[in-house]
Amino acid sequence: MAFKLPQLPYSMDALKPNISAETLEFHHGKHHKAYVDKLNDLVKGTTFEEASLENILRKAEPGTLFNNAEQHWNHSFYWRSMGPNKGGDPKGPVADAIKQGFGSFDAFKKKFSEIAVGHFGSGWAWLVRAKDGSFQVRATHDAGCPIRDGQTPILTCDVWEHAYYIDYRNARGRYVESWC
Ligand SMILES: [Fe+2]
Repeated sequence: MAFKLPQLPYSMDALKPNISAETLEFHHGKHHKAYVDKLNDLVKGTTFEEASLENILRKAEPGTLFNNAEQHWNHSFYWRSMGPNKGGDPKGPVADAIKQGFGSFDAFKKKFSEIAVGHFGSGWAWLVRAKDGSFQVRATHDAGCPIRDGQTPILTCDVWEHAYYIDYRNARGRYVESWC
């Protein structure tokens, strides 16, 4: 069964002015689509042809197939990490977890932003639940996905240049500031 590019959970212009329709059209319709197409090409004839995406993330050897599977998963999760009129102070169990892990929501935001802005090169900033149950902020390089490390992703911000270059050029800091 072929992997499919998921529909965005909002319209292309829903994240303006923080992220433009042009950025979403390229990022979703070109970049994410290319990862899905490549993944579908690469799984043909392998033991992963009928595997779930999560199974590939856990078991595939490092390499192009694995990288494209990670990028497909990461982007699908990134689209759901954002939304129109979303953000602000969390409530309920997530708020409790953030307070427990970082002291306050503001302290979490500061740490997440520092990791996202300071990450060298292409990659992702994450809020994850670690194997010991603690909540942590971390970055991954290139296509890296925390599922490979047995962690549960809760939130991610794409810090590849293709996520912000149209709107912010090289100013990753301004992208992250508006994203947070
Ligand atoms: Fe991306």
